Amino acid sequence: MKVLIVGGGGREHAIAVSMKKSKRVEKLYCVPGNAGIAQIAECEPSIGVMEFDKVVAYAKEKAVDLVFVAPDDPLVGGLVDALEAAGLRTFGPRANAAILEGSKAFSKDLMKKYNIPTAAYETFDDAEAAIAYLETADMPIVLKADGLALGKGVLICNTLEEAKAGVKEIMLDKHFGSAGNRMVVEEFMTGREVSVLSFVDGKTIKTMTSAQDHKRAKDGDQGLNTGGMGTFSPSPFYTEEVDEFCKKYIYQATVDAMAAEGREFKGVIFFGLMLTPKGPRVLEYNARFGDPETQVVLCRMKNDIMDVIDACIDGTLDQIDLQFEDNAAVCVVLASDGYPESYEKGYVIEGLDKFDDADGYYCFHAGTKQTSEGIVTNGGRVLGVTATGEDLKQARANAYAATEWISFSNKYMRHDIGKAIDEA
Ligand code: AMP
Ligand code: GLY
Repeated sequence: MKVLIVGGGGREHAIAVSMKKSKRVEKLYCVPGNAGIAQIAECEPSIGVMEFDKVVAYAKEKAVDLVFVAPDDPLVGGLVDALEAAGLRTFGPRANAAILEGSKAFSKDLMKKYNIPTAAYETFDDAEAAIAYLETADMPIVLKADGLALGKGVLICNTLEEAKAGVKEIMLDKHFGSAGNRMVVEEFMTGREVSVLSFVDGKTIKTMTSAQDHKRAKDGDQGLNTGGMGTFSPSPFYTEEVDEFCKKYIYQATVDAMAAEGREFKGVIFFGLMLTPKGPRVLEYNARFGDPETQVVLCRMKNDIMDVIDACIDGTLDQIDLQFEDNAAVCVVLASDGYPESYEKGYVIEGLDKFDDADGYYCFHAGTKQTSEGIVTNGGRVLGVTATGEDLKQARANAYAATEWISFSNKYMRHDIGKAIDEA
């Protein structure tokens, strides 16, 4: 079959590598793609993921059998609906289900209505009312812009002054654009964070192995929030007890709640969980694969990804026995120094040829570009160097060893990805 992937980051490269392993895939296409994806797929860099008409036309022109929509913006904006309306078989939630990620107010209300454990909250459309509420609230407190904000619309405020400044930033100065027209104020929770990705076919949910992201730019979780500086999988903190709790109160409950609301969810649900002293709580939902969680999860999946995708679309996921290797994986993001603020790009990357999937070493491209001088850096997050190993310690040693194979002028990385496992 011929498959088109929509997206162009490390996550999409990991999805492409996984699809390439399938005997059923004869040809891969990707819009816009990147220099790494271009090694295994035909890419069309001139088409953006929000140019729905062009994506639909490209899928038709290439006569693809399936379109896989990976990023949040086109999912929330209704690309799946547009592709389906054009008669194309598509993987991913429709807009009415992707709202699970697209509106934090929606997802919080859903959890409240269906008793899914999460932090207590209030929603505000009006800055004055939000400030009046904050004046009576306990600190620290968490402010969240309602809409999509590149994972950055969350402010943790330690004092009332910080909280007031946060309201101004989100609702009045519109730092996150229209995402801040509405705001959720949430109880501050403590505990370890774990990400669990899952496949969903509308009724059945099958969770993948657990993972953990490192969102801050600098070692020791210092610095600014980023798209993610590295991941490991599985999380040693995601115990059987935690899994049992989440199966009982969170996973199926979420899928059933969406179905009951007439918003049947098909695709991937990403559960951002916090393991609080009172038990696991949902921090957030994403309506898609995570980046860079996907990089450490899919390389451990034993199933043919196309079988699982088909089962999600056809509603036969109950017949799939989802299995993962009994190993571990670590992904270290190589970024351009200065990310997530200002950074330079256009530097030639050396050492990419040293990676061999067969040995359990992957170099997923995020921000790269092919030029006449070779492959150059083209973004804040440049590469996701990923390695498997028999356990987390080995995977971590392998991944960090592999980061040394790559060089470019302003290479930056965190040195403590997966360090938390030493405390497990
Ligand atoms: P979110 O985009 O909702 O996952 O929030 C981004 C990050 O902010 C999370 O990964 C947490 O580290 C933190 N966070 C979000 N909500 C809370 C909360 N209620 N209490 C403590 N930390 C939070
Ligand atoms: N790594 C978090 C996300 O994909 O949103």
